[in-house]
Amino acid sequence: MNKQGKLVVMDHPLIKHKITLLRDENTGTKEFRELVHEIATLMAYEATRDLPMKDVQVKTPIQLCTSPIISGRMLAVVPILRAGLGMVEAFINLIPGAKVGHIGLYRDPVTHLPVEYYCKLPADIEERDIFVVDPMLATGKSAAAAINFIKERGGKNIKLLSIISAPEGIAVMQEEHPDVDVYVGVVDEKLNENKYIVPGLGDAGDRLFGTK
Ligand code: URA
Repeated sequence: MNKQGKLVVMDHPLIKHKITLLRDENTGTKEFRELVHEIATLMAYEATRDLPMKDVQVKTPIQLCTSPIISGRMLAVVPILRAGLGMVEAFINLIPGAKVGHIGLYRDPVTHLPVEYYCKLPADIEERDIFVVDPMLATGKSAAAAINFIKERGGKNIKLLSIISAPEGIAVMQEEHPDVDVYVGVVDEKLNENKYIVPGLGDAGDRLFGTK
């Protein structure tokens, strides 16, 4: 039987507090980047909770003991360009052995469908647990398309992490990728006519990279 994915809304005071600061239009680029990094660290902590462990022997200055380490599958983090880049360092700080793939998508002006313009994944992606990161889960179409590309290249065990989500994006993920666990910091009210999340935080890429 196929695995059934879950939706985890990360209802933690630290995450809620930091999301409020992130939303504030007066939060500048430096602080915005730091907050995204901090929230991604907290989300990575939760999304890696079920990693398998095994016992090893370790000699402390006092004596030899048995103690657990992470075992089994290797990890990959895949940011959706460009805002997803803001969440990568949190993962590789916590898990230095994780490989980083990149997926770039643009929206076709005629069909409005996401088109891949860049995709570079670790060669052994099918053997890795994969964390797809994008701070905003808005329509869900980019995330769903990115995960399609990963699956086409053999990726199987996939989780999506987004800081702010819209109900529409969650519905698309549950419809198109019911096997994928979705971790979000908060579920906002809706999308506006320009497909921005309301109340959201504006354009995450512009706020991360100071391009507005
Ligand atoms: N991408 C963003 O950066 N912001 C939104 O509100 C929606 C998509």
